[in-house]
Amino acid sequence: MNVHERAPNCEPAAELTLERKLSRMPVRSGTLGPEVIEVGKLYRDTGCFTYDPGFTSTANCTSRITYIDGDEGVLLYRGYPIDQLAERSTFLEVCYLLLNGELPTTGQLDEFRGTINRHNMLHEQVTRFFTGFRRDAHPMAVMVGTVGALSAFYHDSTDINDPAQRAMASNRMIAKMPTIAAMAYKYSIGHPFIYPRNDLDFAANFMQMCFAIPCEPYKIDPILTRALDRIFILHADHEQNASTSTVRLAGSSGANPFACIASGIACLWGPAHGGANEAALNMLMEIGSVDRIPEYIKKAKDKSSGFRLMGFGHRVYKNYDPRAKVMQKTCHEVLNALGIKHDPVLEVAMELERIALQDEYFIDKKLYPNIDFYSGITLRALGFPMSMFTVLFAIARTVGWVAQWNEMIEDPEQRIGRPRQLYLGPAERNFVPMDQRS
Ligand code: CMC
Repeated sequence: MNVHERAPNCEPAAELTLERKLSRMPVRSGTLGPEVIEVGKLYRDTGCFTYDPGFTSTANCTSRITYIDGDEGVLLYRGYPIDQLAERSTFLEVCYLLLNGELPTTGQLDEFRGTINRHNMLHEQVTRFFTGFRRDAHPMAVMVGTVGALSAFYHDSTDINDPAQRAMASNRMIAKMPTIAAMAYKYSIGHPFIYPRNDLDFAANFMQMCFAIPCEPYKIDPILTRALDRIFILHADHEQNASTSTVRLAGSSGANPFACIASGIACLWGPAHGGANEAALNMLMEIGSVDRIPEYIKKAKDKSSGFRLMGFGHRVYKNYDPRAKVMQKTCHEVLNALGIKHDPVLEVAMELERIALQDEYFIDKKLYPNIDFYSGITLRALGFPMSMFTVLFAIARTVGWVAQWNEMIEDPEQRIGRPRQLYLGPAERNFVPMDQRS
């Protein structure tokens, strides 16, 4: 295949010749990142599909929301570096930025906060859903079911062709996810539900819904709520990851927004994606002490063991995940604020990171700690049980999902997602009657 440089008055294009059939494919550039070769006409021109399991070389859409440079370890939301946002903004500011493209003014932020606060309660009948689940249900199972069911309650925000209804559905989901998550938690421990409080910011309100009880006042610790707010910022969006692509694919058929976000939550649950924070903490606790680290490093390098270092490696980052750096700092801040001088799990994590980063296997494969490596330790210190870790990820990622879903709906180039395949099954054959089958 040849890629031609831009000639005067001519767009750059790649040419592929297959058995004398030529396909001329335009090459498009973005603001940052690799160019893309538009292969949409390849099948018409040559009769061939492209084959790219896992989409390692395939861009599925154009987007103006989030940019990742995996080699350099860069993550930008609407152009702003993640570390600056984590340090200097709040989660609601980041939500506004992701949804609208620009940071809000004070007035815009106040108005947005008011909108989110107005929608953070659940229809009272939804609260009865929870009693239909087993007490020991995983909260992610409860989230998938309850968020999907919101479309049965908020009929006035399911018309995807109406921008006002789309905005209403987006705000509802950002606002209601913490309430649903906290209720799932409260139900699992047999506590009464705690309703949202609009005098608190987003993260503080979520913590009080999870940890307050009706019989005594709940004390807000600003260091801890700020840490949780920062964790929400770090998880708010991440370009075309598996759950976001799932939301886009579900949305491409015209499905309603609540159903689309429920599909994103289902995808996020997997241990290779959002479930990795739970898996990483489980692994660190199983290792238990620094002297057992070499044994686990050995196991991670042995393909036949089926074991991987959870919280390590990333499809896109071939450098330190920039979110992991902020997460590590946040982890130390939280443990200091709580007066935890020695956390054996943190000690295992830091030593494991140190050893892995010097090991040839991890160096060669460019495997670095990802965001999930330190998030489990931090969330556990904040008081969340392990089963809630991925739920917290889902709360934060909801804004990314709805921003990407809205962008997709408004994109005139988007069509229903319909991948093709390389068929390896039997060729056509005649039906065999039962008495002739061997
Ligand atoms: N431990 C040991 N070996 C690993 C690991 C790991 N954590 N991750 C990748 N490898 C090896 C893998 O065996 C393969 O080796 P080889 O080339 O010899 O076959 C090579 O590195 C490339 O791995 P891959 O599975 O082809 O890479 P991928 O891009 O398909 O997978 C990943 C990315 C994140 C699923 C993978 O690194 C992984 O399973 N990590 C552990 C789970 C985890 O921490 N996930 C959280 C991701 S960040 C949060 C999020 O975005 O949701």
